[in-house]
Amino acid sequence: MNWESEQDQKVQRVEELIGAYLPAEEGYQRTVLEAMNYSIRAGGKRLRPMMMYETYRMYTECDGSAGEPDDMVIAPFLAAIEMIHTYSLVHDDLPAMDNDEYRRGRKTTHVVYGEGMAILAGDGLLTHAFYTAARAFSAAKDAAERVSLTSPAGDASLCGRIGRAIGILAEKAGIDGMLGGQCVDVEAEKRGETVTMEQLLFIHEKKTAALIQSALMIGAVLAGAPEEDVARLERAGRHVGVAFQIRDDILDVEGSLEELGKQTGSDAKNNKKTYVTLVGMEQAKQDVERISGAALHELSKLSRSNDFLAELVRRMVYRTS
Ligand code: IPE
Ligand code: IPE
Ligand code: MG
Ligand code: MG
Ligand code: MG
Repeated sequence: MNWESEQDQKVQRVEELIGAYLPAEEGYQRTVLEAMNYSIRAGGKRLRPMMMYETYRMYTECDGSAGEPDDMVIAPFLAAIEMIHTYSLVHDDLPAMDNDEYRRGRKTTHVVYGEGMAILAGDGLLTHAFYTAARAFSAAKDAAERVSLTSPAGDASLCGRIGRAIGILAEKAGIDGMLGGQCVDVEAEKRGETVTMEQLLFIHEKKTAALIQSALMIGAVLAGAPEEDVARLERAGRHVGVAFQIRDDILDVEGSLEELGKQTGSDAKNNKKTYVTLVGMEQAKQDVERISGAALHELSKLSRSNDFLAELVRRMVYRTS
């Protein structure tokens, strides 16, 4: 099977797992549920859940235990991280922020449902993400009951890992992660010329890399990976995320609406300082390659390997969507 078909198959699997956790569109609050599902069902590359799943599989598939790894514990987290990412996009596109009209090939949520409902849909996705992640506890209990050999001690340690994973998700999505980065991003827009490389790297590291770090770390933590690997994945995730955001800045200049599903020129329209405006296009491209190389180096030092994950990172340098 070629790499693209393998990727399609993996996205398909992630879609199935995520789909099971989306809320039913019913009740008096139906409109907000529709708005939540509108943005999440619009698609997207599903990069974060895919990275989480691949990291999890890297530690569960070759540990000698028979059969497929138990997806029921990781599945709620795959859905949760995509809900958080989607909420960040819905709010990022609002008129008060980047004021964008297209996302994932469709009109943005606020254009279709109005600003108030888009704010609520983002809030709803964020809250529902943690409700969903917490469902991993009952999945762990069910799994323990199915496998009679599992000791109560093993069950307790799995619950401990789930609790830690929820903490990582909150930390990397919140004030010391994505939200913190978006705060500095919004303020930097007003500062214009005075944004330094140090400040820009802070923005990229927080607004984009933090959630990617959490994807890799949660996959590893839930699978019971060694601590050294969790720390290495946090470093790898920082490189992956910064390279990913620099490429996003590049594509805002030379990408296309057809491929990206969002309008280009958004950063220029908002007078945003980006990696491209700071160092120029050629340097930006070289830096994406260099930083991706650093990410691959960290991945190569892990106690386990996953060729698909490494190739995914390698291809991000030239991605056009
Ligand atoms: C867009 O993320 C926002 C950034 C952090 C650059 P993606 O490029 O992963 O968006 P989707 O999920 O594929 O729509
Ligand atoms: C947004 O960065 C990162 C988020 C946390 C949403 P951008 O504002 O550059 O993302 P796009 O280009 O709108 O997808
Ligand atoms: Mg933005
Ligand atoms: Mg934006
Ligand atoms: Mg952008």
